[in-house]
Amino acid sequence: MSAVTSPPRRKDLLDIESLSREEIVFLLETARPFKDLFTRSVKKVPALRGKTVLNLFFEPSTRTRASFEIAAKRLSADVTNLAITQSSVTKGESILDTVETMQSMKVDYMVVRHAGAGVPAFIAKHTPAAVINAGDGNHAHPTQALLDAFTMREAVGELAGRKILLVGDLLHSRVSRSVSTIARKLGMEIGIFAPGTLVPAGRPDYMQPFADFGAALEWGPDFVYLLRLQRERQAAHFFPSLREYHNVFGLTRERFVECRRRGIRIMHPGPVNRGVELVDEVLTYEHCLINRQVENGIAARMAVLYWLQPAVAPLPDEKEDAS
Ligand code: CP
Repeated sequence: MSAVTSPPRRKDLLDIESLSREEIVFLLETARPFKDLFTRSVKKVPALRGKTVLNLFFEPSTRTRASFEIAAKRLSADVTNLAITQSSVTKGESILDTVETMQSMKVDYMVVRHAGAGVPAFIAKHTPAAVINAGDGNHAHPTQALLDAFTMREAVGELAGRKILLVGDLLHSRVSRSVSTIARKLGMEIGIFAPGTLVPAGRPDYMQPFADFGAALEWGPDFVYLLRLQRERQAAHFFPSLREYHNVFGLTRERFVECRRRGIRIMHPGPVNRGVELVDEVLTYEHCLINRQVENGIAARMAVLYWLQPAVAPLPDEKEDAS
């Protein structure tokens, strides 16, 4: 499917850190012909025919879950969505027992979202299925970063030397960790503008901090990436009020006009808190890439599913021979 040579296939995709630049570029190049399928009357290829993909989402999701389901179906895989709130997890079944139960049904891929950082990696060690991290706590969201890099490349071409400004809740955001890592690996410059209380300790030196939104826009970003305010992960009050947050860190009408004047592309992983991270007008701006990010999520996830290689599970009689 891809015109570029495939690097050796991996079993799992758990974060962006462990991917090389070559692997990232391969996935982005592979996503491109998959996106071309979307305008055809038949949007499917047979690449994963006979394979089964399990969506195992312990946290809510609209985009990622639907996007993985559509991506898998466009690759002709069979898809099962385990509804966690109606599953035996509610009766106290452990994650490991849940995984072993599903493994007995011979699934080939497990797409995992969980509030605990490291849960997808834990699952990956206990199953021959290929495991894809669909977001774990505040750790990583690698397919979000891949779809974002794909979207930025689609908008401006080569990303090396381009600038991205991350705005908002860096502390709780798995998206900001994965997006800043992929941006760095692709040679972009990274600026950050966030409440001091929402910047993680040990911020890397390559992230350039800004003290106000105006100075950050003067820096000349190609992309302003607004992070979602993660109200569900905030145990403490990190700023006085939502109105205060919007006034200082939000894309207000005035700042939006400045972004439009400069032709800056606006991104957000969704779901958007309207009136907090941005004003409504942003969503109809010609350089607002938010819907494009969602569309491209399917192509990026098709590329990931296509590339990963589940380990071959031993057949029952092989297991017996080994014991
Ligand atoms: N961007 C993202 O992860 O959105 P969902 O929570 O809707 O999947």
